[in-house]
Amino acid sequence: MDKKNIIEEMIRVNHAGERGAIKIYEGQIKALKFLKQEESLIQEIQEMRDHELEHLHFFENEIIKRNVRPTFLLPLWDLLGTTLGIGTALLGKKATALCTAAVEEVIGGHYSDQIETLENDFKEEKSLKDTFSKFRDDELEHKDKAEKMGSTNSGVYYVLDTIIKGTSRLAIEVSKRI
Ligand SMILES: [Fe+2]
Ligand SMILES: [Fe+2]
Repeated sequence: MDKKNIIEEMIRVNHAGERGAIKIYEGQIKALKFLKQEESLIQEIQEMRDHELEHLHFFENEIIKRNVRPTFLLPLWDLLGTTLGIGTALLGKKATALCTAAVEEVIGGHYSDQIETLENDFKEEKSLKDTFSKFRDDELEHKDKAEKMGSTNSGVYYVLDTIIKGTSRLAIEVSKRI
């Protein structure tokens, strides 16, 4: 694959991923409000959602600047994100936190892989690499936050954790290409 395509793939999949993250958090916020869960939990999620908005805006700009085609699967990401957000919030606080921990772990690892590629093969993309590093740190902070919120993957939560991580990885792979 030529170099331009590799960068385009990165922008395409990250744009989709950030959008999915926003949908997850917005789904959770809606459901948690509906369930009248404590305000502090909702506020924490709103804060993370705001970071994702910042990330999304960056990729929206890159899409225009570099003339990258967004993935055709955006509606699927939206649906998946919203379902995951509402679904986990309805299952309770532990599932809500688990969802964040699982997704952010996958996204954090995904950013780390991209940062390594940029470091090795794209010296000219230093500013992109620096931005990815900042976003990666945000995602890992979200994961830490979720762990403090009480995420667990023991017992039945292990199944949910596996499903969420598997789905996220699959969505990443597919959105690079389609
Ligand atoms: Fe993000
Ligand atoms: Fe995040």
